[in-house]
Amino acid sequence: MFRIKSPFRSLVIAVYLLFILAWVMPVSGQTKRSPVAPNRERVEAAVREAYEKFRSDTGGKNADYIPYLAQVDSKLFGISVVSTDNQLFEIGDVKYSFSIQSISKVYSLALAMEELGADPVFQKIGSEPTGRAFNSPIAVVDMPTHSANPFVNAGAIATVSLIPASSPDEKWNKILNFYSKAAGEKLTLIDEVYKSEAATNTGNKALSYLLAKYDRIYADPFESVDVYTKQCSVGVNATQLARMGATLANNGINPATGQQVIKTEDIPYILSAMMMAGLYDSSGGWAWHVGLPAKSGVGGGIVAVVPGKGAIAVFAPPLDEAGNSVKAQKVIQYVADKLDYNLYSPRSVGLK
Ligand code: DON
Repeated sequence: MFRIKSPFRSLVIAVYLLFILAWVMPVSGQTKRSPVAPNRERVEAAVREAYEKFRSDTGGKNADYIPYLAQVDSKLFGISVVSTDNQLFEIGDVKYSFSIQSISKVYSLALAMEELGADPVFQKIGSEPTGRAFNSPIAVVDMPTHSANPFVNAGAIATVSLIPASSPDEKWNKILNFYSKAAGEKLTLIDEVYKSEAATNTGNKALSYLLAKYDRIYADPFESVDVYTKQCSVGVNATQLARMGATLANNGINPATGQQVIKTEDIPYILSAMMMAGLYDSSGGWAWHVGLPAKSGVGGGIVAVVPGKGAIAVFAPPLDEAGNSVKAQKVIQYVADKLDYNLYSPRSVGLK
């Protein structure tokens, strides 16, 4: 039999072991790239085509019930894709900082589960779609759980109320730090958005008291609304938002920093809630046409998560009737279709 003489023998064994280690151990804490993830050229082409195809789309209208949002330039348009191996593909106004709005609800849900565990959060909030507008008081009355799910305003305010803290300021700092870890950069409040929303959020205050009537809010109602209003006023750009999404796609590990931000076991709960209610009363249509967990915000952002592969974030302020960015929905549907991202499609796992 062929035998290697020492010291070469130990060298060969060491190299062999290193090979095995590199294969089984994720590099810098990241999960392995999905074997069916599309290559760089395909992603770049899909993003560029979508940008050109939809940049002149004039559908929808900026949100105006928060006065600040009405005067944001409706032509702003940016697309950013971050892959789980931290590649970046982007085009357009990707450095403009807009208010995260309802997309924040995803990360406050994650934080609540981080602190309390998933089951208590599910018991106290629920995860049923309402089929009604995101700010509907009727849904609070009608839904058996009242809070319905963490993504309608009522459920989101209840989720904020659950996050343990000794003061509203401490809670707000905890939330902002957590979002920053998911974005891989320090995020800050857009003070003008906060002031604009705080001066006009009577509807959310009403929802918080309605929740109190059913014992479905777990801290002072108005204090909870105030922290919620701040979380909605956090500024993000499309790149940061895509990285926040890619953290969900990458088992809770931020692909840029390698930090485990969200517990891996919580990811399926978060993504299922996004699929059920991420686009409010048009979530069913979204699941039908696009098949990706996503979350929208009235600031004009949408982030869609492709588990194991990455995330697409789009920013374009004009919204449809349900409060979802018109261009962002079109772009994500186009890119998802081009790159076989729809989770319900056999093509997403390489079956043609
Ligand atoms: O509470 C509100 O109405 C806003 N801060 C957030 C609503 C929102 O983003 C709904 N999204 N599509």
